[in-house]
Amino acid sequence: MFGDKVTSYKNIVVLTGAGISAESGVRTFRDNGGLWEEHRLEDVATPEAFARDPDMVQRFYNQRRAQLNTVEPNPAHTALARLQAEFDGTVTIITQNVDDLHERGGAEDVIHMHGELGKVRCRACAGVFAFHGDCDQDTKCPACARAPALRPHIVWFGEMPFHMDVIADRLEACDLFISVGTSGNVYPAAGFVTNVQAVGRAHTIEVNLEPSEGASLFAERRHGKAGDLLPLLVDELLRLS
Ligand code: OAD
Repeated sequence: MFGDKVTSYKNIVVLTGAGISAESGVRTFRDNGGLWEEHRLEDVATPEAFARDPDMVQRFYNQRRAQLNTVEPNPAHTALARLQAEFDGTVTIITQNVDDLHERGGAEDVIHMHGELGKVRCRACAGVFAFHGDCDQDTKCPACARAPALRPHIVWFGEMPFHMDVIADRLEACDLFISVGTSGNVYPAAGFVTNVQAVGRAHTIEVNLEPSEGASLFAERRHGKAGDLLPLLVDELLRLS
């Protein structure tokens, strides 16, 4: 099951992607029926798209934000929260997801490297604000009162992911890296497994519905639904700790 070198871990890093929220009813990006089949990412997920048609981009994220009110965390989210609470060591959750299901499942200190649907950012004063309704070009910044100024607090293609300094530190310290529900198409997240192996100590596990693009890079692969597999993996890790 686990790597031969290490049988107990102290610093676990879990990278999650859209697949962990799929069983909650949040659409993934690249599966059959994924969001990028219906929308061209060049139309809604780039700074150029926002400059060209801000109303369309705001509408796209308003719909995603509204959908969060209709979904609940699933057993994969709550299993990771249990690991964080009960594991004798550190557990860092880095997510590419912009939903808040890790937090609502009980997790703490989740690193949202691609931003959060529940926040907007002011392009005039750079403030970041919790935001739960519909945002449009008339919505005034709660701090500087300018409009149009607010944009979704989402990392678009061509922009730098958030929190890369702290992510680099956690990857360097990690002795177990688990990737859950990500297709391995988008960098830098897709490269984290190689980063931790370069340091040399970490065991690596992929948990995904099917082998991802980078599946062969992982020492161990568990394929199936995250909601079935993660609670079992967490039980195993808690027995070891
Ligand atoms: P993808 O949609 O690319 O991949 C989702 C992965 O989850 C696929 O490999 C599925 O097989 C797997 N999956 C689906 N259901 C699952 C389940 N129940 N249990 C386990 N795995 C399941 O989503 P991401 O890899 O997260 O970025 O995409 C990465 C980034 O690309 C996103 O953060 C987003 C997107 O464009 C931005 O918008 C910047």
